[in-house]
Amino acid sequence: MKIFLDTANIEQIRQAKALGAIDGVTTNPSLLSREKGDWKKIVRQICKEIEGPVSVEVISTESPAMLTEARDLVKIGPNIVVKVPVTLEGLKTIKELHLRGIETNATLVFSANQALLAAKAGASYVSPFVGWLDDVGQDGMQLVQDLMSIFRNYDLSTQVLAASIRNSSQFFQAALLGADAITLPLSVLLDLAKHPLTDIGLASFLADWAKK
Ligand code: E4P
Repeated sequence: MKIFLDTANIEQIRQAKALGAIDGVTTNPSLLSREKGDWKKIVRQICKEIEGPVSVEVISTESPAMLTEARDLVKIGPNIVVKVPVTLEGLKTIKELHLRGIETNATLVFSANQALLAAKAGASYVSPFVGWLDDVGQDGMQLVQDLMSIFRNYDLSTQVLAASIRNSSQFFQAALLGADAITLPLSVLLDLAKHPLTDIGLASFLADWAKK
């Protein structure tokens, strides 16, 4: 399972890189808006910091303007993946970018129907927002499971990228389901390594050693 860091903060990316844990980065307009400075410079820095895919979302809502933005985005770095919301205009954009060989990440996916249309349009990734669905009382991880089944049924090459991940249990569930990729905040990534018995065990080993 590819692990992407869900952030536009370069220090967080460096911290995750030091663990050898991440294969790429995903951003969104909210994450980028939290960072001070010119957003293009930030994205360029991220593209240099990490070799893997860096998802950056278009802001426009109509396809022609989305395509113009996408053409500008891919000039920032060779590892840019253009993030496009799975609206009708977004699907048109995904199709056009696919024809041009530009990788896309269909975002704000909340149903299997949306994801299947995005895959048909040629999206490289679909991002089901697990946390947002859970927030409204639905089962976000069930959507990931449904997508893995549907995409296997038709041997679709589009990768399922589990997004809006809030805790280590969701990470485990996504891995169990065979999600192609997952994106998570640094706080969740760091939590993955934690277990009380590891701390207790280490303390016990060191205490015994100290008696030597
Ligand atoms: C993926 O990149 C999504 O933009 C991100 O995971 C959104 O989830 P959140 O709003 O719950 O952080």
